[in-house]
Amino acid sequence: MSIRLPFIKNKQKTSNDKQMEMETENIPNHVAIIMDGNGRWAKKRALPRIAGHKEGVNSVVKVVRAAYKSNIKVLTLYAFSTENWKRPKPEIEYLMKLPKEFLHIHLPELMEKNVRIQTIGDFESLPTHTKKAVQYAIDKTKGNDGLLLNFALNYGSRDEIMQAIKQIMTDIDGSKLSIDSLDEQIFSKYLYTQGLSDPDLLIRTSGEQRLSNFLLWQLAYTEFWFTDVLWPDFSEEVFQEAIQEYQQRQRRYGGI
Ligand code: FPP
Repeated sequence: MSIRLPFIKNKQKTSNDKQMEMETENIPNHVAIIMDGNGRWAKKRALPRIAGHKEGVNSVVKVVRAAYKSNIKVLTLYAFSTENWKRPKPEIEYLMKLPKEFLHIHLPELMEKNVRIQTIGDFESLPTHTKKAVQYAIDKTKGNDGLLLNFALNYGSRDEIMQAIKQIMTDIDGSKLSIDSLDEQIFSKYLYTQGLSDPDLLIRTSGEQRLSNFLLWQLAYTEFWFTDVLWPDFSEEVFQEAIQEYQQRQRRYGGI
């Protein structure tokens, strides 16, 4: 026996449809994260600071998977700042090994997920072994066009702006650029983030509410979201909480 289903002309949206719409509407294109609190996480457990960084790598894995699932286009992670060189040598050495360790294990998954890896910051001044591992991943993933995983490595925004100014002056001197043509768009092309859209959402963990020399130019109209969660405790749920709050925000860019 065949059952004839009634023809539904204007199908009413079910709560499931609405839920799906809510989940996919107004997703940020570019999310940037200041991953903070590794040291405090370790201290709370009477562990050395590097144990916090080690656990922090697991949170990197979680957030990359969550960003991939949410169809985020760019994920920028602040992994090492130009000021982090002030830390004790063993901690710096450990932090410099992390990209290699992470990529050694996770590059196959990143390839499978069509993730492209890129960095911003003073790449040349990184230790050779770090550069080699990261450059290998950049080259290997350069044909991928899914999520762009952008590591801020030896990155400082003031340093970035200073080097941009110096290059602009050199180009003006060499008649490659005229002062009259210099505007915000051209200036942006001299930054490490050239070609990238500005972050839509900035997340900082660990309860601190400051920028710490991160993307000062690029964050001009970014929505900020702070959480007390320490970076090693970060999870897909916390990431989704940030995204959901972003989805409710109204961005006016100075307009009304
Ligand atoms: C800040 O926390 C964290 C860092 C300076 C390092 C962040 C690095 C990672 C999370 C791992 C990066 C992973 C890859 C794959 C590159 P803190 O040490 O300042 O914490 P505290 O303020 O509690 O001391």
